[in-house]
Amino acid sequence: MPAFPDRFAWGVATAAYQIEGAAAQDGRGPSVWDTFVRQPGKIRDGHTGDVATDHYHRWAEDVALMKDLGLDAYRFSIAWPRIQPAGNGEPNHAGLDFYDRLTDALLAAGIKPVPTLYHWDLPQPIEDAGGWLSRDTAHRFASYAQIMATRLSDRVGQWITLNEPFVVTAYGYALGIHAPGKSLMLDALPTVHYQLLGHGLANQALRAAGAAEVMITNNYSPAWPASSSAADIEAAAAYDVLQNRIFTDPILLGEYPDLSAYGIGEAGLPCIADGDLAVISAPVDGLGVNYYSPTRLAALPDSPLPFQMQPIPGYQTTAFGWPVIPAGLSELLGLLHERYGDRLPPVYITENGCSQDDKPSPDGTVSDPGRIEYLDGHLRAVLDAIAAGVDVRGYFQWTLVDNFEWSEGYHQRFGLVYLDLETRNRTPKASYAWYKNLIAAQHAGRAGSAAV
Ligand code: BGC
Repeated sequence: MPAFPDRFAWGVATAAYQIEGAAAQDGRGPSVWDTFVRQPGKIRDGHTGDVATDHYHRWAEDVALMKDLGLDAYRFSIAWPRIQPAGNGEPNHAGLDFYDRLTDALLAAGIKPVPTLYHWDLPQPIEDAGGWLSRDTAHRFASYAQIMATRLSDRVGQWITLNEPFVVTAYGYALGIHAPGKSLMLDALPTVHYQLLGHGLANQALRAAGAAEVMITNNYSPAWPASSSAADIEAAAAYDVLQNRIFTDPILLGEYPDLSAYGIGEAGLPCIADGDLAVISAPVDGLGVNYYSPTRLAALPDSPLPFQMQPIPGYQTTAFGWPVIPAGLSELLGLLHERYGDRLPPVYITENGCSQDDKPSPDGTVSDPGRIEYLDGHLRAVLDAIAAGVDVRGYFQWTLVDNFEWSEGYHQRFGLVYLDLETRNRTPKASYAWYKNLIAAQHAGRAGSAAV
């Protein structure tokens, strides 16, 4: 693998509900996901995150794995319901203590902690009060952000506000396949604005409490028309607005993209109040980019959503059935660079990885050549984008240990480390050794490194 820039950060990413378990321990309150997983038929085989990878108890073992990998940085999320079980008010000290210990252990291992404040586990009492359909949730999010930065900003410099607000809106509130399970279709659009407002208010609160750098993470996907017909090109453009632009234009350009494909006229979303866009578009220090694959779109006449997704033929697929298209990542980074120009802050790939049907062999080792090939291809795509002038500063592989994959339960294994679902024991896979060697080689090649 050719050399990445010297200050490039090598990491892995996780999310609280997918790994922590201990769902009712030490004062943690219920989140929308605790509620959702209990609804029959929502999660494959009725799996829950009650235990997950048991990271809440095994965090020291996980930090030791990360230290052994030689990571520069670790992206994890903080469970809001551990900090404010009722969704507001004074913090739960046991919750704060957990992230305090984790932060100190990471720093002692030479790993930079990069917390995300919200990776989908909204406290249930906030959902009961309207969730992301309510403006008040944006203010509550800012108070929670302030609590966290007050506690950790002496040791944590880089903060991520939201993870993939598009998925919250689309899967959680429009289609009902994620928590909180609402099927509001286009009536879910206020959740776009209130999440963005939550980001903006949290940006202010974090900085006021001493945070050095604030970012947001979105998931992006190049929108490929299914054919060269004008209708399919229009469908792809409409999808591009919804997934790629609606959560980024307001932050980087201070305005919403044209939402006429969704029946929203010049006046914009009715929930936008004077001054909101100024709050939302305050500068950020980085943009988190999650990439898994492009999306192929065809026209769908007479439907509230003016597109339908189609499979992309001709590529290998992951266990999830997602096509493996590394060139989609360089295309995407190029698109962001072109679209936002000087307004694009430094980019961090905050998630990228693949699920595979990994199984231990009789000797106990886990061979996952498909994952190695996937990561190798996507890292080369990042290098292509850097060579083309995009300022990419880090890569966080998704994910360290196989974990709870939302609606799919434990069926999709994305980890560098295999999780035994009976014992919760961890076995590094072949991709773990590959990533470790890659990081060591990259570190050794850095200017000023003793090994050069
Ligand atoms: C999410 C992760 C998820 C991953 C794989 C991303 O959309 O942020 O929580 O596990 O994709 O599906």
